[in-house]
Amino acid sequence: MNPILKTLQADITTLDVDAIVNAANSSLLGGGGVDGAIHRAAGKELLAECRLLNGCRTGEAKITCGYNLKARHIIHTVGPVWNGGKNGESEKLRSCYANSLRIAAEQQLASIAFPCISTGVYRFPPDQAAQIAVEAVREFISKPTCLKQIIFCCFAAEDQQRYETLIQGQELHS
Ligand code: AR6
Repeated sequence: MNPILKTLQADITTLDVDAIVNAANSSLLGGGGVDGAIHRAAGKELLAECRLLNGCRTGEAKITCGYNLKARHIIHTVGPVWNGGKNGESEKLRSCYANSLRIAAEQQLASIAFPCISTGVYRFPPDQAAQIAVEAVREFISKPTCLKQIIFCCFAAEDQQRYETLIQGQELHS
């Protein structure tokens, strides 16, 4: 069956999915924004597991348990800091989505929710970021996958609208 692509306006820490994605920093030891919210909601055990991971490079991703979250797992990825757009920011952001989806599939997960990676503290222009996110997901689901549901979880209504516009009328192939 083709995976379902959908948008939500929600706090990602409340979602009952196999994995939520964290927009982390390279230390993987917590921070502000969605990262801070995830660490607070998951509890201290998350930080203990993250300490064992030796950080994460920009564009890559690592998985942990979800601890006190409803989500069973957390896939931590490190988005690029926007620095004008000529420093590989787009490719790195695309890699965040591709690597997170690859890890979810390796773990045989069925559902995953993404926040708008890099569009907060890291200042990536939100329109461009949403376009890259949807393209990366489309590319991934152009091949058969165990994933059944892929959610773009937006904090702000305008972000959700952006994603809705992009995915509307989309034909999914798997
Ligand atoms: N649920 C869903 N989305 C959220 C939530 C939430 N609870 N909280 C914020 N957002 P940001 P970045 C949205 O800054 O730009 C951290 O300190 C927010 O509205 O969290 O990748 C890390 O440790 C925005 O659309 O992540 C890094 O140092 C999106 O999540 C750095 O920030 C991403 O904003 C990463 O910066």
